[in-house]
Amino acid sequence: DRTIDLAVISGDGIGPEVVAQGLKVLTAVLPQDVKLETHAYDLGAKRWHATGETLTDAELEQLRAHDAILLGAIGDPGVPSGVLERGLLLKLRFAFDHFVNLRPSKLYPNTTSPLAGEPEIDFVVVREGTEGPYVGNGGTIRKGTPHEVANEVSVNTAYGVERVVRDAYARAQARPRKKLTLVHKNNVLVHAGHLWKDTFDRVGREFPEVTTDYLHVDAATIFLVTDPARFDVIVTDNLFGDILTDLAAAVSGGIGLAASGNINPTREFPSMFEPVHGSAPDIAGTGKADPTATVLSVALLLRHLGYEAEAARIDEAVTADLAERAGTARTTDEIGDALAARVAG
Ligand code: IPM
Ligand code: MN
Repeated sequence: DRTIDLAVISGDGIGPEVVAQGLKVLTAVLPQDVKLETHAYDLGAKRWHATGETLTDAELEQLRAHDAILLGAIGDPGVPSGVLERGLLLKLRFAFDHFVNLRPSKLYPNTTSPLAGEPEIDFVVVREGTEGPYVGNGGTIRKGTPHEVANEVSVNTAYGVERVVRDAYARAQARPRKKLTLVHKNNVLVHAGHLWKDTFDRVGREFPEVTTDYLHVDAATIFLVTDPARFDVIVTDNLFGDILTDLAAAVSGGIGLAASGNINPTREFPSMFEPVHGSAPDIAGTGKADPTATVLSVALLLRHLGYEAEAARIDEAVTADLAERAGTARTTDEIGDALAARVAG
């Protein structure tokens, strides 16, 4: 028998509510001979308020042993900005070398997209996950004076850029349209921009079937709104990818549907799957949270672990569910039940 050994970080706010539905659907979709073992980790704002701890070295070691991590959402307004981001979320992404931050965007039926009715929106952003300005290589001098200087250094290594670009080419190659767009800003950020562009062109010679394109990030934001159907796979750095994927979520059905995978393709470390949205404390406990983004993140998790058929069943269930959901207000639980029923059927 096969086993999936899953670490679960439900977190704060709506996190536990959406994760419960994600696990419900996961349990329903798995074949009889696959055993699901879940291990809950008490991490996030609640834990920080209680103990002052974000993520201990011992916990990091324990997490390392699982097949994958499912994360709900982290944070509440009482935690100073940056504490949990650096101390927990980014710490996990860096420690487990999640260099592919995979964020698909698809326009589902009956969603509230400003682009509803547009031609097909179905693209995936491969956001670099371990470099750029996120490494925290910066500093402030003359703090608090009129001459304060605050630097945030974007780190881009040949190794880091090449591995994510290569991954993006492979993903583009595997999709019907086989198109890859590099997004950067190489007219201004010339050092990093040229490393990205040169790498993109060089690796591209190994993927002759993939059509390539380059856009400056500002132009890419225009096309994401005016002509999103032009995109198939986008590869970009950590910060541009952060911004583009929120925009992508907004134009393709809203943040309630945006899934993501923090992936270590080498499988040396567990990958982590999470909805792009946050803990939404304003609606926590009301049953209004849409668990779909978490359920779609579970599909990414299954695909990463090699359960392609099960992942596809979840994607199809979400599409069918959204097609019928038209205007009906349903609770978190009702949506989870409906999706679980569909994948089991
Ligand atoms: C995301 C979030 C994080 C990021 C924050 C919370 C550190 O915005 O997952 O997109 O910037 O990557
Ligand atoms: Mn973000």
